Amino acid sequence: MPWVDKYEPESLEDFSGQKKQINKLKDWYGNWGPGDDALLMHGPPGSGKTTSVYALANDRNLEIFEVNASDNRNKKDIENLAGSASQQMSLMGREKIILIDEVDGLSGNKDRGGVSAIIEVIKESKFPVVLTANDAYESKLRSLRRYCELVDFGKVHLSSMTANLARICEEEGVEAERKILKRIARKSSGDMRSAINDLEAVARGQEKITKEDLEALGFRDREKEIFEVLKVVFKTMTAKTAKDMADDSEKDPDELFWWIEQNVPNEYKKEMDVADAFEKLSKADLFKTRIRRRQNWSLMKYYIALMSAGVALAKKEKYGGFTRYQPPQRLKRYGKSKGKRKAMEDIHGKLVNELHVSSSKMKMEYIPLMKWIMKKQEGSVEGLMKSYGLSEEDLEQIRDF
Ligand SMILES: Nc1ncnc2c1ncn2[C@@H]1O[C@H](COP(=O)(O)OP(=O)(O)OP(=O)(O)O)[C@@H](O)[C@H]1O
Ligand SMILES: [Mg+2]
Repeated sequence: MPWVDKYEPESLEDFSGQKKQINKLKDWYGNWGPGDDALLMHGPPGSGKTTSVYALANDRNLEIFEVNASDNRNKKDIENLAGSASQQMSLMGREKIILIDEVDGLSGNKDRGGVSAIIEVIKESKFPVVLTANDAYESKLRSLRRYCELVDFGKVHLSSMTANLARICEEEGVEAERKILKRIARKSSGDMRSAINDLEAVARGQEKITKEDLEALGFRDREKEIFEVLKVVFKTMTAKTAKDMADDSEKDPDELFWWIEQNVPNEYKKEMDVADAFEKLSKADLFKTRIRRRQNWSLMKYYIALMSAGVALAKKEKYGGFTRYQPPQRLKRYGKSKGKRKAMEDIHGKLVNELHVSSSKMKMEYIPLMKWIMKKQEGSVEGLMKSYGLSEEDLEQIRDF
């Protein structure tokens, strides 16, 4: 069993941190009566929103009725599921709590049916209703917010997280310095799920974890990091969430661009969504070229916003399920230094033939000079260079050289 499941808090008593939020949950539950507001718990992934509802149910022996709003997008589903469940006592006569998870995954703009169905449930339910969302302030949730008390589940604090990792190590019989656990915790920036996954990756089956193990994690983590970024960009319906994720990524923006480009068709199934995403990417690409040519770094934010938020909003609704993301083919072709060197060799070959100079002179003088002129006075030598048989791609290689 993965450690996130094995060490999932069964009781609210076992929660790490999030004290205020949990007290709020208990108070709200204790005081709730029919007609009262629902509780809307919002905050970043892995902060304990869903788990806290299950822990409460466990502590109070409640039957829990869960609907995942991002899976059941239309009004009917929510009406059928939550509507009837919100009226009928459980078979065993236990008290009930209704969890409508991930309400920000409800389909956007046009279909507000989902939101109004949830409002109906809240108004009519004989049992308390809890909602969760990563972003509670999306405009489509505005009307819903009026029927909710909000609880802000922020990131899990570093110290709480480190303590939880230490406890897990102890139970697993793994020796680990606090410093090391803290580094794992810091890397996850408040997401307990990812911290526990990281810990498991280095610590499972070990007697002791060391700095060297962490370096191994660093390596794996970078790989994992990109998959996390892709998952968020492709699954979220919120521009800001997508953009923040891309901003925080450790990947070089160009590399991120190729990762996103490669995986659009893997994630998006509807033609219009794919077309729209590629249009955003081609706009992003224009910015990339401008940034390079004019060395205008202030355009970077548009480049990143288009490739992340632009692609995120290209879909009309979230695609469920797991997508296996692939590394970009482009990077393999151009990105590796070997590929680059090969491309430069081709360019040398073409120019040496045309200009009758030695290859070393070409490399040491001509190419840097061309690069410099192209940068200084855009458009002044490109035509000439193309007349030597260079392609637009070759010119790009030289600019990049
Ligand atoms: N405060 C916490 N204390 C202990 N474990 C936690 C805490 N928060 C999260 N976890 C662990 O992380 C896992 C994920 O938490 P949970 O599913 O509740 O996150 P979430 O806030 O609902 O995230 P998402 O927005 O992605 O649905 C849990 O299974 C649990 O093991
Ligand atoms: Mg959740």
